[in-house]
Amino acid sequence: MRIVMIGSGYVGLVSGVCFADFGHSVTCVDKDDTKIGALKAGRLPIYEPGLDELVAKNVRNGRLSFTTDLAGPVGEADAVFIAVGTPSRRGDGHADLTFVYAAAREIAHAVRGFTVVVDKSTVPVGTGDEVERIFREESPQADVAVVSNPEFLREGAAITDFKRPDRIVVGFEDERARDVMTEIYRPLYLNSSPLIFTDRRTAELIKYAANAFLAMKITFINEIADLCERVGADVQQVARGIGADNRIGSKFLHAGPGYGGSCFPKDTLALVKTAQDHDSPVRLIEATVAINESRKHAMARRIIRACGGEVRGRTIAVLGLTFKPNTDDMREAPSLTIIQALLDAGVMIRAYDPEGMEQAKPMLPTITFCADPYEAARGAIAIALITEWDEFRALDFARLAEQVADPVFVDLRNVYPHEEIERHGFRYVGIGRRS
Ligand code: UGA
Repeated sequence: MRIVMIGSGYVGLVSGVCFADFGHSVTCVDKDDTKIGALKAGRLPIYEPGLDELVAKNVRNGRLSFTTDLAGPVGEADAVFIAVGTPSRRGDGHADLTFVYAAAREIAHAVRGFTVVVDKSTVPVGTGDEVERIFREESPQADVAVVSNPEFLREGAAITDFKRPDRIVVGFEDERARDVMTEIYRPLYLNSSPLIFTDRRTAELIKYAANAFLAMKITFINEIADLCERVGADVQQVARGIGADNRIGSKFLHAGPGYGGSCFPKDTLALVKTAQDHDSPVRLIEATVAINESRKHAMARRIIRACGGEVRGRTIAVLGLTFKPNTDDMREAPSLTIIQALLDAGVMIRAYDPEGMEQAKPMLPTITFCADPYEAARGAIAIALITEWDEFRALDFARLAEQVADPVFVDLRNVYPHEEIERHGFRYVGIGRRS
């Protein structure tokens, strides 16, 4: 199949490269010529484990190419995927569909012969209908079928998620599109990944419902963690105990500083807005959004409390800035809110993150960025672990203890058993545990 991927951001790039790796011929298109230039030179705009090797391999074997020219490759394509950004619209929290509609307009003038236009960006229910309307308006003779095919990739595990998905959701209205999509996903289908065919609006809602449910699950365990602290229970044991029930499932039950990233915050908000617009409020998700927001501030208060309350003019070390490990993505990272609240309280911050510091620098211009955890700890009264990177799982506490007087370790991801840390003279504060 000849596939064109419009938008070489996270989703577009990962999906395009993986389709090429399945044997399809893929052209990745982006308006940003610096990005395309870098990709052509083998430099990736994002950090994702394993992606650079996969790009190099598929460029070498001629199945993957990059261009800023949309019209040429679209005219030859069997399927054109729209994988452009849908950020939160400033002011009202709705998904901003400007890029999706602009892409649709350009595609409309470039298609030749029957073409499946696949929406991979996360878009509210009804966007597929609007894209179809744009095609009718811009190019009435174009023979296209508009499909919704949401993606469920997690940053940091995107290649595995793409190649071994729990399911592939395809929402279509035209039978011919079903055949093309079956062909495109055949390599996975043969791997027995279930292909769920449904109508377009349902597919669009599946994406939001999935992300909202996961965000709600995390928020649920975060609130149970708070309760555990009050009643003297252990949230990790509670998560284990409830997660063993297949109906609940063990994943996404790690209590922490609140969810972040480019998806959950934006998608929960967009679902809330859509539901309000249709006079069918999703109150559980409204509560989820509010609880998650206040949790990040509560985490800053927890760190201050752990330091005895007097923090003005003192230094705190922060380990981990990205919204989760194995990414350089700082979007909606809980660390941003937590650090800002600490700065507002007069704290000086020394921080270290394995991949996120370049992105973090302009967002946190007043903090000190350090080369490693030990340098970050120098002169600090407390160390706060915010993101659970693997390299923070075996810290040398004897060495850390040398850097800090009267040391406190605030573990917002429950990485360590408290006995291990207390042995080195630290006071330990975790999440939802007896300390
Ligand atoms: C999420 C979904 O997991 C993907 O299925 C979806 O495709 C993607 O959004 C998207 O819509 O594009 P992602 O944002 O990459 O993926 O990251 P997750 O691994 O889901 O983590 C999101 C946040 O939840 C992180 O801040 C993480 O630390 C937090 N989290 C996750 C917890 O606090 N506890 C958990 O148990 C799990």
